Amino acid sequence: MLTPRGLSLLRGGTRGSSLLCARTLCHGVGPRPRAPGSYYVTTPIFYVNAAPHVGHVHSAVLADCLHRHRTLLGCNSRFATGTDEHGLKIQQAAGAAGKDPLSFCTEVSSRFKEVFRSCGVSYTDYVRTTEDRHRRAVEHFWKVLVNNGFIYKGSYEGWYSTPDESFLTPTQVTEATDSVGREIKVSTESGHQVEWMKEDNYLFRLSDFRTELQHWLKGNPKAVRPEKFHHMVLQSLENDLPDLSVSRQRSRLQWGIPVPGDPEQTVYVWLDALVNYLTVAGYPEGHSQWWSAVHHVVGKDILKFHAIYWPAFLMAAGLPLPQTIYVHSHWTVHGKKMSKSLGNVVDPLEMTERFTVDGLRYFLLRQGVPDTDCDYDEDKVVKLCNSELADSLGGLLNRCTAPSLNPEQIYPRFCAASFPKCSENVPGGRAVSEDYRMVKAVSELPALVKENFESLQMYKALEAISGCVRMSNGFIQRHAPWKLNCSKTKDRLWHDTILHVSMECLRIYGILLQPVVPGLADTILSRLGVKPFERTWDHALTFLSTFDGGDCPYERRALGPDTGVLFNRLERYKLQGIPKKTGKPTKAKPQ
Ligand code: MSP
Repeated sequence: MLTPRGLSLLRGGTRGSSLLCARTLCHGVGPRPRAPGSYYVTTPIFYVNAAPHVGHVHSAVLADCLHRHRTLLGCNSRFATGTDEHGLKIQQAAGAAGKDPLSFCTEVSSRFKEVFRSCGVSYTDYVRTTEDRHRRAVEHFWKVLVNNGFIYKGSYEGWYSTPDESFLTPTQVTEATDSVGREIKVSTESGHQVEWMKEDNYLFRLSDFRTELQHWLKGNPKAVRPEKFHHMVLQSLENDLPDLSVSRQRSRLQWGIPVPGDPEQTVYVWLDALVNYLTVAGYPEGHSQWWSAVHHVVGKDILKFHAIYWPAFLMAAGLPLPQTIYVHSHWTVHGKKMSKSLGNVVDPLEMTERFTVDGLRYFLLRQGVPDTDCDYDEDKVVKLCNSELADSLGGLLNRCTAPSLNPEQIYPRFCAASFPKCSENVPGGRAVSEDYRMVKAVSELPALVKENFESLQMYKALEAISGCVRMSNGFIQRHAPWKLNCSKTKDRLWHDTILHVSMECLRIYGILLQPVVPGLADTILSRLGVKPFERTWDHALTFLSTFDGGDCPYERRALGPDTGVLFNRLERYKLQGIPKKTGKPTKAKPQ
């Protein structure tokens, strides 16, 4: 909110012709051509005032899945994450811990790194806002905004939420009572207490960008995904967009980057934090390769900062806008957002110990629906992993590779006479209509999975894979190869064909699952004898080439030596605090 003084400063500010000049410079409106093959995905950078929890890991695993998927497609993909270390709440958290801010930040930042590594988050860049390279990027960005006429000195008076580090308009604030019954004001969105703030500081001409932001969003319906959030941003742009305070007085906030040329002011933590994405891309030098290919993954609580402030800053700086802002909802516990302040956080390391890294990743991506919040429940993790990973996927692998059914331990041959291309009236053909439906579904699976990965609907991709795995198990069950008499040639050929088709299905599932459960996918593919260079997305497009009369490079190849169980069944247990790594191993019986 601007005071009359702020408004008069706005009118009398140093705007002049620089607005025009920056608009000419601005490449932000409309999609930009991307450097071929480059892809750059980011997570939000995480506040270091609290330890990492499963909600944080969810943001990171989603971005990791996009990165791994793009790498499989053959892109040169870069994946950045890191920590957001400046601001009042970090300053206060360090003070409360009796530590100097930098040592405090270093400690918590290393915990994030460790947790991400343990969860298979394969970032290529880790950025901290306390690094020199980042300070240089922020200083440069600030100077560009000033030179382009979008920053002026003014006076801000209004509500401020320190936990959200956010300025709020009167309509975003509501009344509440605190724990001792006092009347307080809170943010309507986050529920955090707000305070009245009055300061002389620098303001950004956000109000100038309302029309351009609307134009950008309307012209790029996939700029913010899922669609629901795209609408929400457009809707919020129906309201006035006041100018934004982008600095705090140094006397109130010391833990931050000083405003270039004015050491009495500190750069607003969100401006500082958002620039991290540019820092990683190499800004201000040589950032264009990555910057034209950037995609952000963010939680819905920080949508305004990414879909309004950030594009406006970029337009003002004459830089391209993000290709996509992927938004996800939250993990709740008994309906309440998982957060340190509510004391209901789930520790990701404990989860990986109990459910394994792949179990945790599978659960988060299979159950996490971006449009709506999801409730975390241990029973759900156990049930899901047991039915889809241990029984269904593990059972399929075991059936195809068990020595009782596959004594030669090879990828058997396909027999076109047993499984002819045409389903009707072919003498010797033994496949039935459900089998043809399965082959069709698995051939179409890579395109379906790709489309869903690219719209952050990992749960839909996994639902489709899981449906196909069920079909493949049904295929084996229906034809019961263990009942065939392999001393008869025709039965032998059909037996091998059943195994060949099932292994081909598994090979496709293994390739497609790599971005989600890299460990399990590796176990499947290694057991099938698929070499590391045969695991790209293109290799998933050659499903059952023998069915179309082509060659199959895997036929007669020896299976890999690892005969272990793919995923041990998990057990529910009531006792708290006793970590239990695995449950009882089960091998699905070949009959
Ligand atoms: N520091 C800012 C982001 C700056 S990016 C320029 C911030 N940090 S955060 O640590 O609070 O949140 C980081 C990410 O974790 C956000 O995407 C947020 O939505 C996500 N999550 C935090 N709690 C969450 C859940 N309970 N569930 C799912 N994601 C959640 O915001």
